[in-house]
Amino acid sequence: MMRFDAITLFPAMFAAVVEHGITQRAHREERWSLRTWNPRDFVDDAHRTIDDRPFGGGPGMVMMAQPLADALAAVKKNGGGTRVIALAPNGVRLDDVRVRHLARAGESLALVCGRYEGIDQRFIDVCVDEVVSVGDFVLSGGELAAMALIDAVVRQLPGALKDASAADESFAAGLLDAKHYTRPETWRGMAVPQVLLSGHHLQIAEWRRREALTLTARQRPDLIERARAAGQLSAMDEGQLRIAVETAAANQAAH
Ligand SMILES: C[S@@+](CC[C@H](N)C(=O)[O-])C[C@H]1O[C@@H](n2cnc3c(N)ncnc32)[C@H](O)[C@@H]1O
Repeated sequence: MMRFDAITLFPAMFAAVVEHGITQRAHREERWSLRTWNPRDFVDDAHRTIDDRPFGGGPGMVMMAQPLADALAAVKKNGGGTRVIALAPNGVRLDDVRVRHLARAGESLALVCGRYEGIDQRFIDVCVDEVVSVGDFVLSGGELAAMALIDAVVRQLPGALKDASAADESFAAGLLDAKHYTRPETWRGMAVPQVLLSGHHLQIAEWRRREALTLTARQRPDLIERARAAGQLSAMDEGQLRIAVETAAANQAAH
């Protein structure tokens, strides 16, 4: 079972992953566990203070190192936190490769969630193995980022996905996933691509590959470059990409 320990001022937020959907089922099936640790429980002043004003001035408050270090020490004493990850916008951007690696490695992860202006840097320098960002934007706290990481890692754990294979999803083969359609066959005058109704599995697979290539080339050309460098594109894929580029150019010229 993969173990997560979240160090957080808002433990109740984690109900979002424990009590809903695929992560809930995987949690019930004991594929992963979560324990939350509130830094306020590791201070003994009357106000349970865990933050203070920033040295050098400026707005907001900073989370103090000691309550976080004490909470982390408790995690480790309890057998968790083999790897310590802090969530912060200045971290390395989380991606599919890192998520799959974390799921495969199966180390127990302590996730340190910042609030306010962030965490005293000395705690990060001394106690944290890795700083992770979930994107180039600022959240109010690390909890949503930690839950994004937990959700993404848990769905990669063996058996977590029942009817779908994580191998078919976006990024798995270096490309975005193809578009999806369901009933009714016609909605607001728009028909489902005919090939999907054909029952012809090979043609459907080819169509999906083509769609994935075209969509990725349009939305994320960087992923195409990476897939090419990793040898993930066949000669047929390259032919399809050339057609996609020519079609896009022709469409542009027509407008
Ligand atoms: C309001 S933010 C602090 C922002 C910080 N002062 C800055 O400008 O980079 C509070 C906390 O939210 C979390 N956080 C915010 N954005 C994040 C992101 N993109 N990825 C991961 N964690 C994030 C971090 O734990 C951070 O300590």
